[in-house]
Amino acid sequence: MGLMESNFRILVADDEKGIRDLLSDLLKDYFDVDTVDRGDTVLDRLKKVGHEILILDLRLPGMSGLDVLKRIFEDKIKVAVVVITASNDVETAITSMKLGAYDYLVKPFDTDKLMVVLKNIVEKLELESELSRLREQLGEGFRFRNIIGKSPGMQKIFSTLEKVIDTDSTVLIIGESGTGKEIIAKAVHYNSNRKQYPFRSIDCSTIPRDLIGSELFGHEKGAFTGAISRKIGKFEIASRGTLFLDEIGNLSIDLQAKLLRVLQEKEFERIGGNELIKVNTRIVTASNRDLREMVRENSFREDLYYRLNVVPVYLPPLKDRHEDIPLFIDHFLDKYNGEFGREVNLDLKARLYLSNYSWPGNVRQLENVIKRLILLSTQRVVSLEDVTSVLEFEEIGMAARRAETAGPPPAPSGSLISEGVKTIEEMEREHLEKTLKHFNYNISITARALDISRKTMHNKLKKYNIVIRRTAAMEENAGAAVEGAGHQPDHRPQQAGRHST
Ligand SMILES: Nc1ncnc2c1ncn2[C@@H]1O[C@H](COP(=O)(O)OP(=O)(O)OP(=O)(O)O)[C@@H](O)[C@H]1O
Ligand SMILES: [Mg+2]
Repeated sequence: MGLMESNFRILVADDEKGIRDLLSDLLKDYFDVDTVDRGDTVLDRLKKVGHEILILDLRLPGMSGLDVLKRIFEDKIKVAVVVITASNDVETAITSMKLGAYDYLVKPFDTDKLMVVLKNIVEKLELESELSRLREQLGEGFRFRNIIGKSPGMQKIFSTLEKVIDTDSTVLIIGESGTGKEIIAKAVHYNSNRKQYPFRSIDCSTIPRDLIGSELFGHEKGAFTGAISRKIGKFEIASRGTLFLDEIGNLSIDLQAKLLRVLQEKEFERIGGNELIKVNTRIVTASNRDLREMVRENSFREDLYYRLNVVPVYLPPLKDRHEDIPLFIDHFLDKYNGEFGREVNLDLKARLYLSNYSWPGNVRQLENVIKRLILLSTQRVVSLEDVTSVLEFEEIGMAARRAETAGPPPAPSGSLISEGVKTIEEMEREHLEKTLKHFNYNISITARALDISRKTMHNKLKKYNIVIRRTAAMEENAGAAVEGAGHQPDHRPQQAGRHST
């Protein structure tokens, strides 16, 4: 009859023993056959075993066949269903087709007919698995495979990018801190036909403004004091590849003009040079500030804005893509369990709590929380209390975490806490430094802002070895300094803080 032996599993659900025996006998050479005699056991069995095919009598004790079908449909169980009905019940048979049954047979049925139906199903299943194998081989549907996002917001991004990926079009990524701007920028490059050429990035918010120009365009030897040799800029290095300009809103007005010119003319001169360098660099930019607002305020060039905003990609805050949070949780559990050789998991309450949290620091914060939970947990299963305490800890350490890029703090000796996790003291020190900087190293004001006495403040400065030496500029900035005349100013931020190790 042409049916080859297959690896597929069939479940026969019928209350009549005669039929179960008959079908088992008939099908056992071609399939793995399993039987149940009640409707209310079908779903459990399907979920447990994962049969590919179900032969379902509609009249069953416990739960009717139609209800079983409904549940299969609702629970999105992937199984091809062949329905068997009594001869007077064709209406129901049609209803069951609407509920997603593959085919139906009327009792008493001809076994040859059943075999034809099954053969069709087997062909369909084989075709499906072949297609998915092919798709995998071709890499289709896997373009953004390392990027998580089944939420509508992310799906929209994928379909936008899919359309423009192989063009030279600029892409502007807008999103709050930690929403994944950089990972999207990289995906644009590594999924495009530029992927064999370099990807480079410049974060315009961390590089000193007067250095951004030479980072971008390079310079000739002697172009300015300190330019002791020729430097090739990232625009040139990433020619034929992609240059990612992060926090583009921080670019000075004159560099905005130069960038615009390069985008229009595809050529430029290195700083201090007169050779025209031709480039074909794709530009991807990102900003967590609203550039339109900046255009309105005249701090960002309108013409440049339109040049950059050809393909806008808006990354929603994590709290607006709830569907993705469970995926992120599992993704980061996998990642850090792997990294740390652990097998930590979260219990249900902990998961629910994380799923409903507001995530002001977005994906980056979620990633940090999972990492911390794995590092800190002594048990395999993390509970709600562990989660809330890490989140509290997180909130205290917000400021400290921002400084994390400066490298992990030294782990306190004898501590069981692995490196990468900040101690309360570490965070206090960093918070202190940050606040001091904010108040221009004015000790009185800083102490008042932190709601501690000056004495306590001085003790802490001593404890953390923070030395402040005052410069003339600071004196000026501080204006009529609040510092008492008797105080001997130690000052000037001797790189306010990190003890020289
Ligand atoms: N959709 C995603 N799938 C997988 N990982 C993600 C996703 N979005 C963000 N991440 C991870 O979250 C972290 C933060 O992402 P990324 O650095 O790209 O964000 P960002 O918007 O550039 O943040 P910031 O504004 O702080 O620079 C990274 O470790 C990144 O790998
Ligand atoms: Mg970033």
